[in-house]
Amino acid sequence: MYNSKITGLGFYVPDNIVTNEDLTKMMDTSDEWIQERTGIKERRWIPEGSEDTSAVMGAKAARIAIERAGLTKDDIDFIVFATLSPDYYFPGCGVMIQDLLEMPTVGAIDIRNQCSGFVYALSTADQFIKTGMYKNVLVIGSEYHSNGLDKTTRGRGVSVIFGDGAGACVLSRTEDNNKGILSSHLHSEGKYAEKLTVLSPSIKKWVPEIFKNIDTDVSYFPYMDGTFVFKHAIVRFTEVIHEGLKANNLTTDDLDLFIPHQANLRISQFVQHKLKLSDDQIYNNIMSYGNTTAASIIIALTEAWEKGKIKDDDLVVLAAFGSGFTWGSVIIRW
Ligand SMILES: CC(C)(COP(=O)(O)OP(=O)(O)OC[C@H]1O[C@@H](n2cnc3c(N)ncnc32)[C@H](O)[C@@H]1OP(=O)(O)O)[C@@H](O)C(=O)NCCC(=O)NCCS
Repeated sequence: MYNSKITGLGFYVPDNIVTNEDLTKMMDTSDEWIQERTGIKERRWIPEGSEDTSAVMGAKAARIAIERAGLTKDDIDFIVFATLSPDYYFPGCGVMIQDLLEMPTVGAIDIRNQCSGFVYALSTADQFIKTGMYKNVLVIGSEYHSNGLDKTTRGRGVSVIFGDGAGACVLSRTEDNNKGILSSHLHSEGKYAEKLTVLSPSIKKWVPEIFKNIDTDVSYFPYMDGTFVFKHAIVRFTEVIHEGLKANNLTTDDLDLFIPHQANLRISQFVQHKLKLSDDQIYNNIMSYGNTTAASIIIALTEAWEKGKIKDDDLVVLAAFGSGFTWGSVIIRW
């Protein structure tokens, strides 16, 4: 069996910075409330008139990752795209990457696992490489949240948290079994599907039905039971990190860098405290980008790598929790 390792990383965020102060002009909120509850200072939102979408941002991040891997688009065998904010209801964004990058007609799939999307996507790509089916898989996480948020006081509990952006990596075959993705651990608990969701449009409730009550129907905006999500997140994050480390006979002392999904700085800090990790063992950037869902881990991983925080042979752990509920971890020897 082969192993897989990350050979190229890239990310792209729109230039348009939206500060907490900017949000106070749209809704009844404050910089103090947002920073105290979430740690977020600013996020990027695609500005009006921009051509950026989840697929377009994903393609921009992917070009950087492919180049850094020392490859060309023609070397990529398969595309895995994670998003909850696809350009179309269908088809998914993966096929759009094939077109935007003018790639040969390689296969492409979309992963619909929200905040855990990148962890699921990376794990999926890893399986294709481990079985020997593919050599180089392009893995993308990208989100265009800002066009779908309720940016009024009614939606403030959700809309202040989310940002737009994309990250990508190339996962490549290696014959060194001590390097690369050591294991991944994935979970779901669908009974909590409606605790963090966008209910419609869906096949159960299509557009004309929303229009019947357009003034009062908020089912097409994200809904989140924030306190409930928070309580589950801190438990599942901790569990799935321990599960991953234990599967590899490792402990938190072995961990060089933990990159949590950037859900909320308070969640990351709680998990850091619970695992007794030093500030050098964790990387957070939610302060600058907000929660970019499927893009958050890969943006943070890329940024940490660009800052020289990841060295050869480091043990890097990625973990996520989110809508579904879904959660998971990926254990990497860099
Ligand atoms: C969303 C979250 C920050 C809200 O914090 P909270 O302490 O639970 O706040 P609540 O929702 O209980 O609201 C407390 C008060 O603040 C108000 N409030 C909500 N959003 C606000 C905002 N943006 N600005 C100002 N006030 C706000 C509420 O209306 C409420 O007011 P009330 O007490 O008068 O009714 C928090 O629950 C959380 O982080 N949950 C985790 C969710 C998460 O990270 N999800 C990401 C996907 S994994």
